[in-house]
Amino acid sequence: MSTFPTTRLRRLRRTSALRDLVRETTLSVSDLVMPLFVAPEALPNERLPGLARHTVESVVREAEELVRLGVPAVLLFGIPEDKDEEGSGAWIDDGIVQRALRELRPRFPELVLMTDVCLCEYTSHGHCGIVGEDGAVDNDSSLELIVRTGVSHVEAGADVVCPSDMMDGRVGALREALPQTPIVSYAAKYASAFYGPFRDVADSAPAFGDRRGYQLDPGNVREALRECEQDVAEGADVLMVKPALPYLDVLRAARDRFDLPLAAYNVSGEYAMVKTAAAAGDLDERAAAIETLTAIRRAGADLIFTYWAKELAPWL
Ligand code: PBG
Repeated sequence: MSTFPTTRLRRLRRTSALRDLVRETTLSVSDLVMPLFVAPEALPNERLPGLARHTVESVVREAEELVRLGVPAVLLFGIPEDKDEEGSGAWIDDGIVQRALRELRPRFPELVLMTDVCLCEYTSHGHCGIVGEDGAVDNDSSLELIVRTGVSHVEAGADVVCPSDMMDGRVGALREALPQTPIVSYAAKYASAFYGPFRDVADSAPAFGDRRGYQLDPGNVREALRECEQDVAEGADVLMVKPALPYLDVLRAARDRFDLPLAAYNVSGEYAMVKTAAAAGDLDERAAAIETLTAIRRAGADLIFTYWAKELAPWL
C-alpha cells in the first residue's frame, strides 16, 4: 500500500467541483418527506416552524408551496376535535385527516400522500392502542382499529400508509385489508425522549404510564432487526428506523441486512436540538441540518422524514 508522499488524500479536496465528483453520499430534496399536522385550528410555531398546526384549508396552501419547492411527499397527522377511549377520530369517515386527504388528492395528483396510522393523537388516554381492563394496551383488539384507520385513509385518497403504533401483527393486518397499498412500516421505533416537541403539537402524550410496553428499548439492536424481519414477512414495502440520529447504528444494521428501501425519521427532538442551538448562536442551522441529514443517508437511509424538508428545499 502506498503511503505519503505518494498518497496525498488532499488532492481530491482542492476544489468544490472535485469534491462534488467524489462525494459518496448525496442529499436531495427528492429524498425528503415533510410531516404536516392538520387540526381544527391553526397554530403557527415560530421557534419550530416545521411543527405548526394547519387547518384543512391552510394545509392545501402548504402543500402547494411544498410542490413548488420540489418536495415529493408529505406525511399527514391529525389532531381531532374530540378524543375518546377508542380514538374514533382516527377512523371515522369525516375525520380530520380524511377531510384533508379529500382536499389534497384531486389538487395534487403528483404529490405522494402518506398518512401516519396510529391512535395516540385520537385517544383520550394518549396511548397508541386500546387500553384493556387491566390498564395495559391490548394488542389484538387495537389491530382492528388500526386497520379501520388505514383503510379509511386510503378510501379518502392516501397513497401510502405508515403504521406507527408498534402493535404486533399490524403490518400483516393492514396488508390483508390493503393488498395494493404501499406500507411504510415504523419497524424499529424506539421508546424515545426525542418525541417531546411532537407530543406537544399533536397533544398525544400518554395520560398515564409510558410507551415502553410497545415501543423498543433504546439499548436493543438485535430486537430491532427482528421487528424488521417480522414486518418484511408481513408484507411491508419500506422499513423505517426512528429516531434517526441517536440510532445510526440501527440504520446501518438494517441496511446491511435487508434489501427493502429504508426510511429514517429525523424526529421532532432532533430538529429542536439544532434549532435551539442555532438560535443561541452556537451553530449554523443550515450547515448543521445538511450535515445531519447527510449522515442519516450515509448510515443507510434512502428517504428521510424531516421537519426541515420545506426549509431545506431551497438550499439543496
Ligand atoms: C405516533 C407518532 C409519534 C411520532 C410519530 N408518530 C409519537 C410517539 O410515538 O409518541 C413522533 C414523531 C416526532 O417526534 O417527530 N405514534
